[in-house]
Amino acid sequence: MKELIKKLTETNSPSGRESNIREVILKELDGYIDGYEVDRLGNLVVWKRGKTDKKILLDAHMDEIGVVASYIDDKGFIRIEPVGGVSPYNLMGGRILFLDVGIKGVIGVEGETNSDLQKNLKELNFDKVFVDIGARTKEEAERLVPVGTFGVYSAEFVDLGKRLVSKAMDDRIGCAVLIEAIKRSDPYHTLYGTFSVQEEMGLVGASVVAFNINPEMAIALDVTAWSDTPKGYKRMSIELGKGPCIKIKDSASISDRRVVDKLRNIAEANNIPYQIEILIFGGTNAAALQRTSAGIVSGTLSIPCRYVHSPCEMIDIDDAENAVKLLNALVEDSSI
Ligand code: CO
Ligand code: ZN
Repeated sequence: MKELIKKLTETNSPSGRESNIREVILKELDGYIDGYEVDRLGNLVVWKRGKTDKKILLDAHMDEIGVVASYIDDKGFIRIEPVGGVSPYNLMGGRILFLDVGIKGVIGVEGETNSDLQKNLKELNFDKVFVDIGARTKEEAERLVPVGTFGVYSAEFVDLGKRLVSKAMDDRIGCAVLIEAIKRSDPYHTLYGTFSVQEEMGLVGASVVAFNINPEMAIALDVTAWSDTPKGYKRMSIELGKGPCIKIKDSASISDRRVVDKLRNIAEANNIPYQIEILIFGGTNAAALQRTSAGIVSGTLSIPCRYVHSPCEMIDIDDAENAVKLLNALVEDSSI
């Protein structure tokens, strides 16, 4: 599974530019599904037939956060706008890879005096930062990285044993779990897998992806936060390596009690470790799936992830493996 996670996180595909990752996922599922479709927004919908026509939907968003070049000044420095939740602090000292053109740039901060620079660093925002691609003129920069070019963090995948670090673990780890669940399961009801677009822009793809499927139950697979680092969040208990998290609520949705109970019972019956998650901010595609059509019974299964939305998102491989086991037991269960 590590190889798959590496491949998925190394694919560069921010919100609105998901064709690269969609191709990789489709190729990965070749021979394991009974059919697929790409809808108008670009969501990839795949299915694997079961013994009944009842449907269970598992969703993972395939986009990642990024930036887009918005302005080039007279000296060839590029201003950027975030695509999804990018903090300017997470850009400091790092590199941006501009897609299609394959150009890398580094981040600089404005400051005409020491106190100016100190102040800007303290209250950093996208008005204060620029990308330096080494261009010497405006014309050169415009030729290399035209305004409108999308970019992502340039950051390598690191294998620390149980712990893996990369950009885009949010939500390629969810995609990896979903791919493995599809590959390894023999579903009782028909299994739908949706790899949705533009979650980071406000659950865009998930708002429409389930409309025509109208499943009995939908589960979003996404990352969640963590509380197990020095002075980590004290109002939450989420630890890496202690199992996938059955979400009770976050800021965007409350998981349907039937989903929570089902996941919990299945985890208990199969001796799969799990955690109960209350996330005090954020949201997942479950919030959009829940409000689709006449309403869909929805919830979220999360993978604990440290440093979410940074270039160094860290997960524990055991949590991903246990999430696959839990989902397999769920889709092979006849009682839904
Ligand atoms: Co995210
Ligand atoms: Zn996510």
